[in-house]
Amino acid sequence: MRFHILTLFPEAFAGAAEYSMMGRAVQRGLVSVNVVDIRQFTEDRHGTADDYQFGGGPGMVLKPEPTFAAVEKILASLPADDAANTPVVLTSPQGSRFNQRLVDEFAAAPALVIICGHYAGVDERIRTNLATHEVSIGDYVLTGGELPAMVMVDAVSRFIPDVVGSAENVQEDSITSGLLQHPLYTRPADFRGMEAPEILRSGNHAAIDQWRRRQSLERTFRLRPDLLPAAHLSNSDRAYLAQLGWPVDGNEPLAE
Ligand SMILES: C[S@@+](CC[C@H](N)C(=O)[O-])C[C@H]1O[C@@H](n2cnc3c(N)ncnc32)[C@H](O)[C@@H]1O
Repeated sequence: MRFHILTLFPEAFAGAAEYSMMGRAVQRGLVSVNVVDIRQFTEDRHGTADDYQFGGGPGMVLKPEPTFAAVEKILASLPADDAANTPVVLTSPQGSRFNQRLVDEFAAAPALVIICGHYAGVDERIRTNLATHEVSIGDYVLTGGELPAMVMVDAVSRFIPDVVGSAENVQEDSITSGLLQHPLYTRPADFRGMEAPEILRSGNHAAIDQWRRRQSLERTFRLRPDLLPAAHLSNSDRAYLAQLGWPVDGNEPLAE
């Protein structure tokens, strides 16, 4: 997977893809991150990438020409089929909420272009005529799209084959599995009188699996009951949830 990130602040990405799992994925050639300085696509000698708003108002707006030129150059460098299937993502607090469905969709694409806005935002024509997706990482406003771009690169990379050690790791994670993950413990077994559950140290794998599944169900029921209607639940999961108070046949969980 090749990520192309368009930004006015390429230095924000220095080191971002060089450590931990991302660093290894880059070294192994599983992903690459091409940070593109939008100013390099400006045509005046001052490298003007933003301008005042028509109609007046505070804050500068990212001009359309350099961003269009940068995206068009990237797409032209790809085989036609890949270019047609490469999402062009505009980071924006007004966009659809970034979630696992988008992670899956982006991870299946041949490449991903991410546009980082800044200042007051971007010229509307970038949103309507260049971006294929407008994506928000949450209901708050950041200074620029650089952190959202890093969030997307990280989350999508975990679903590129072989980036994370075993496919099982990502499939068992919270949200991805449809449920919140069970609690995790490591050594020491007793830390300041707080003991790791005996069952996890019992070596009884069937009992451990059942304990983890139930913890996962209970945690989801208590913290994120909205996830349950879409989760894959066995009859015994449903029976366990019913004991907790979740309706077996209904769509909505009971209020606690
Ligand atoms: C200060 S914000 C502009 C917000 C804009 N004035 C508005 O009200 O929609 C500057 C840039 O940061 C990025 N950004 C800010 N918050 C974001 C969020 N929650 N998710 C994704 N991108 C965000 C976008 O690229 C945006 O163009």
